[in-house]
Amino acid sequence: MSTRLTDLPLEPIETASRAELQALQLERLKWSLHHAYEHSPVYRRKFDEAGVHPDQLQTLADLARFPFTSKQDLRDNYPFGMFAVPQDRVARVHASSGTTGKPTVVGYTLKDIDTWATVMARSIRASGARRGDKVHVSYGYGLFTGGLGAHYGVEKAGLTAIPFGGGQTERQVQLITDFKPEIIMVTPSYMLAIADEFERQGIDPASTSLRVGIFGAEPWTPEMRQAIEKRMNISAVDIYGLSEVMGPGVANECAETKDGPTVWEDHFYPEIIDPDTGEVLPDGEFGELVFTSLTKEAMPVVRYRTRDLTRLLPGTARPAFRRMEKVTGRTDDMMIVRGVNVFPSQIEELILKRPELAPHYQCVLTREGPMDVLTVRVECAHGGEPATAQAARDALVHDIKAYIGVSAGIEVLPAGGIERSVGKARRIVDQRSR
Ligand code: DLL
Repeated sequence: MSTRLTDLPLEPIETASRAELQALQLERLKWSLHHAYEHSPVYRRKFDEAGVHPDQLQTLADLARFPFTSKQDLRDNYPFGMFAVPQDRVARVHASSGTTGKPTVVGYTLKDIDTWATVMARSIRASGARRGDKVHVSYGYGLFTGGLGAHYGVEKAGLTAIPFGGGQTERQVQLITDFKPEIIMVTPSYMLAIADEFERQGIDPASTSLRVGIFGAEPWTPEMRQAIEKRMNISAVDIYGLSEVMGPGVANECAETKDGPTVWEDHFYPEIIDPDTGEVLPDGEFGELVFTSLTKEAMPVVRYRTRDLTRLLPGTARPAFRRMEKVTGRTDDMMIVRGVNVFPSQIEELILKRPELAPHYQCVLTREGPMDVLTVRVECAHGGEPATAQAARDALVHDIKAYIGVSAGIEVLPAGGIERSVGKARRIVDQRSR
């Protein structure tokens, strides 16, 4: 096992054995199912309808008998109907906007916020934080869980938080230059926008004080990791999470191995299911990630279907804790183009093979008669011109056909031609009328 990169102390559970961890999981899972059944009318009804009772859970595998929770359950019980504690115990709410309709709302007790800060602190340490580090937080503060989630974790880890939030890219560059943070927490797509701004100001982005980047909230490929690490001269690790389960810090990559996020499964119990049949799949097989909260009070979730596609792998840097493979696709990000399943991450991987192109891109879907048409809009690299990227364009058309199996049109735009987001990038623009 490679040596740890952090000099901050780990929690005892992080070095426990797998058997100790599983014993704790079983004890907590029993508590969590009882808590949901006894205090959430939604779960009481769901369990009753499925004919199951928390007492029927004797082993971790028995969880498969319990019903799933979906985003629709949260929508149906908007805004606070999923809460399992009285309002006077809810210390905070967050919400995610979603693409259509009402936001999904989540709630936390003070204890939940402390648990969240604990797993976030653990995530930041796993990323290679060192005593005395300053952490520039560019995840959005507000209803989005990214900013505040990261912030409480930085403080809990004993480090200095710089609560910048998203946007004001010029000032981000100024503060990174002046405050000299060692760590940045931001979406990978916005990191690229900040890197562009450094260059625009005539500063080499590889010359900053930054040593570590903790990137998540959206899919990003291993090729994107390499590109960011080289351009920023930092170590880039993957942080995963979702509001319904907690927020950021459900899983985080360990800096010494960088082999997919370690799932903090003493608080969040993972399963992989076949997304079509709902059947639980063994570790190592690909499917949809499902989480059950083990300690959450205000809004417990039982078998929450994340729609994220990945697989579970054995622990490495934290041997008792399973890892998840980097999430590069969601069931609802899958484009079906003339019958072929395509994920934006597959396009990203091919774009990054071409140095004449920049990984700012969007997949635009339109319809010509009954046919779906995919057009990839991508920028030429900084300092380049669309006209000189003609060969790269032709090569990308060829690669998409050869590796993914669809014909796509490519539009190469000048640098800055793709809309910049200060949070999650919008990779799919679906202009097909439904
Ligand atoms: O994005 C929480 C978060 C904030 C995670 C900051 C990491 C950093 P939501 O807005 O509820 O929460 O979106 C959750 O984002 O189901 C995934 O589809 C996607 N996602 C989050 N992290 C990753 C990641 C936050 N590292 C949804 N890789 C999830 C790929 C990710 N997708």
